[in-house]
Formats: sequence, C-alpha cells, structure tokens
Amino acid sequence: MSVVVDKSGARVRQMFGEISGRYDFLNHLLSGGVDYYWRWRTVRKCAPRGTAPILDVCTGTGDLALAYWTKARGQIAVTGTDFTPEMLRIAEKKRDERAASQTGKPWADLTFIEADTQHLPFDNDQFQIVSVAFGLRNVSDTMCGLQEMLRVCQPGGRVAVLEFSLPGNAVLRWLYLKYFKYVLPRIGQLLARNQQAAYNYLPASVSEFPYGEQLAQLMRDAGMQQVTWTPLTFGIATLYIGEKPALVSQPA
Ligand SMILES: C[S@@+](CC[C@H](N)C(=O)[O-])C[C@H]1O[C@@H](n2cnc3c(N)ncnc32)[C@H](O)[C@@H]1O
Repeated sequence: MSVVVDKSGARVRQMFGEISGRYDFLNHLLSGGVDYYWRWRTVRKCAPRGTAPILDVCTGTGDLALAYWTKARGQIAVTGTDFTPEMLRIAEKKRDERAASQTGKPWADLTFIEADTQHLPFDNDQFQIVSVAFGLRNVSDTMCGLQEMLRVCQPGGRVAVLEFSLPGNAVLRWLYLKYFKYVLPRIGQLLARNQQAAYNYLPASVSEFPYGEQLAQLMRDAGMQQVTWTPLTFGIATLYIGEKPALVSQPA
C-alpha cells in the first residue's frame, strides 16, 4: 500500500519548527557526518563563478548557504530562504559565530529571509546559483519550486539540487531501507520528540520522491538544460545540476 505523505506547508513548517533545536545534531549523527561531505561536494561541483549573488532555498539551519559563503571567502553575497523561522534563527546564530572569527577583507553579506520556495520574493534573473539541499522533497508542489528557483536564476546560471536517493546496489538498498524505516525513526523520535513524527516522515517522503533520471527529467520539464546528476556515497544522495538557458540575442 503506498502512503501519501502530507506535505502541506503548515504541517511541514510545524514539524521543522518542533525539531529545529535538535536538527543539526541529528542530521550529523544519523548520516554519520557524511552530510558535511555532500555539501562540500556540492559547492565544489557547482562552484561559484564571478561575483553575482547565490541563493540557497529551504536553507533550514543554513549549512549549504554557509558552505557557499565560506567557499567564496565572503566575496559573494549569499542569501538563504526558508519558511520555518525557528530554523532560520539557528542559521543566523551560526553565521554570527562564523563572522566573529573572520579576519582580513570585510565579508559580503550572508542574509537569511523567511520565504516560501514556491513564491520567492526576488525579481527574475538575480542569482548565479540557486541551490537546495534536502529541501525540494518537502516542497508541496515540486514543479512550482523548481520553476521558482529557475525564475530567479540568471540566464546561464545553475540550479543545484542535493537530495536523498536510493542506492543502485540491491543489497545496499535493502540495508539502507531497513535502517531508514526501523532504526532512524526510533533514534530521531527519541532525541527530537515532536508531534509530527518527523523521523517517520523522512523515510516516507524519500521513498515516494523521484530520483536519478526521473528527477533530472523534472528539472528539464521545468526549463533547465544540460542537466547532470551524480550519485554520492553509493547513491544515498544525488547531486543534480541544471542550467538556465542563456539569453539568445535577437537579430535587429
Ligand atoms: C530537511 S530540511 C533541509 C535544511 C537544509 N537545507 C539542510 O541541508 O540541512 C528542509 C527545510 O525545508 C524547509 N521547507 C520545506 N518546504 C518549504 C517551502 N515550501 N518553502 C520554504 N522552505 C521550505 C523546511 O522548513 C526545512 O527547514
């Protein structure tokens, strides 16, 4: 029987609001710290070019936004958006702690703004990179989220999606699904008690979300081109990168 996962904005916001205080700790614990590596790979494979700003949507506690800010050595302005204010407060705290240890040239801003990924408060064609890590799966309307990300991306810019996927190897996939279904929800619920069964939601939302070629096709359907996807750590996560078509100059 397939389970229909409730991704209504109010439910998702309440869930992340409730677990926000434990989110980082559990993220690193349950992934064995490999999530750091996935973000590290993302900012290298989809590296900043030039000086145009970067946007990280569904930024949560801001780790990918912080990774881009650090990668650009603070010389590129980075914005993180999310619709759960409790997550953003933690992101701001981490930014302030990192800013306190900076030396040398003044760093460009890292700003966090409360916004729904389906209605981003930015003009068209603003950002050289629009990224999302483990967030797209939670957005109620995936296509709308992808189209909004593309809308605010500059022509010739890139959209990077880092998301859970399932390992290609059958034995690994079996082991991973057992861990995901039986171990992770118990540890998660024990350490981050919440009304919304967040750590049951996680495996359910991952198993019903498209991955690999299917998600790459959705990105093409949203209007992206040159879409590539790279499985990471036996395919537990996948990094997708798509380009926004460059403006074609019309003959006079
Ligand atoms: C699993 S967390 C990922 C956070 C962060 N990107 C990371 O890599 O750890 C998902 C985040 O997406 C946010 N989110 C889900 N749907 C959203 C939407 N429609 N608009 C904005 N944020 C959303 C949640 O509030 C949550 O902070």
